[in-house]
Amino acid sequence: MVNKLEQLKKEAIKKIKDIKDLDALQILEKKYLGRKGELTAILRGIANLNIDDKKKIGSLSNEIKNEIKENFLKIKNIIESKGTDDSFIDVSLPGPIMARGHIHPLSKMIDDLDDLFSKMGFMVLDGPELESDYYNFSALNIPADHPARDMQDTFYIDYKNQANRQTKKINTEQKKDAFDMVMRTHTSPMQVRAMQKYGAPLRCVVPGRVFRNEATDATHDTTFDQLEGLMIGENISLANLSAVLKEVLKRLFDEELEVRIRPGYFPFVEPGLEFDVACTICKGAKCPACKHTGWLEMIGAGMVHPEVLKYGGIDPDKYSGFAFGIGLTRLAMMKHKIDDIRLFNSGDMKFLEQF
Ligand code: PHE
Repeated sequence: MVNKLEQLKKEAIKKIKDIKDLDALQILEKKYLGRKGELTAILRGIANLNIDDKKKIGSLSNEIKNEIKENFLKIKNIIESKGTDDSFIDVSLPGPIMARGHIHPLSKMIDDLDDLFSKMGFMVLDGPELESDYYNFSALNIPADHPARDMQDTFYIDYKNQANRQTKKINTEQKKDAFDMVMRTHTSPMQVRAMQKYGAPLRCVVPGRVFRNEATDATHDTTFDQLEGLMIGENISLANLSAVLKEVLKRLFDEELEVRIRPGYFPFVEPGLEFDVACTICKGAKCPACKHTGWLEMIGAGMVHPEVLKYGGIDPDKYSGFAFGIGLTRLAMMKHKIDDIRLFNSGDMKFLEQF
């Protein structure tokens, strides 16, 4: 009997060590210590023993029972602590899966163009989105009463009153900049700023966000991106403009683009041109993305107006230059065949996850 009891203890302790959960623990507890369990079964034979043996076996079986119980308790604590104890880290578990972000199609377009133009010797500049009326309009040959202002209506910020309200002192330089600040309607104000800062000769591009009061549709949004380009030097001509733009479009698009050049009017260039690109979405079949014309106005350009050169502090008798403004958002639409401009700023994940 002693042997049987020792055997039972050994076996029970060994099995208890392997227990992984509370269900298994309960089953084993019943098997060894339950009313119909193995220990009870052995002890049934005690009735046939003499008094001394009964005592001996009785206390041995109690010892064994307690020892087994202790082992059960220990493993129970371990199992339970795994559920609640924060300090327990199962390093073998896979970590939480993080969604990986990616570059927005517009940012990618800007990066690519910055890269292309840098290789062609252009500086990449950045300009203010809240611009003075002076740089956005007046210094670009668009005085206060010029009808071209109507085409580029925007948000006006009453800087003077705001400054007064906040009893801030504004210096003469700021006063000269005009009290009306505007959300810039194009990146062209950087033409004069760059000329004033760097003088001639000059090559620069300025990508950035611009703002207009628009009735939005598939090709118009109140906020969109442009890339301004400016090249000033001696004997710069339209031939240089055409060569630079064609080269850039060729490198940017994997497919050959059909381009149409026609006269265009902008008060700050003379002559002025517009570059249209054949709609890559409908291939000329006419769709909402090209206003049912088969063409998309993509680039405004021309030779910098002598008055504007003067505003920039550059002598128009010595230097000439070209300027262009690329509708970056429209370019991205054509590149990725996106038929609605409003998707770019929509924050729609279904749209963004495609890139
Ligand atoms: N700023 C003009 C626009 O937004 C584009 C342009 C830029 C035209 C440079 C000529 C020269 O429409």
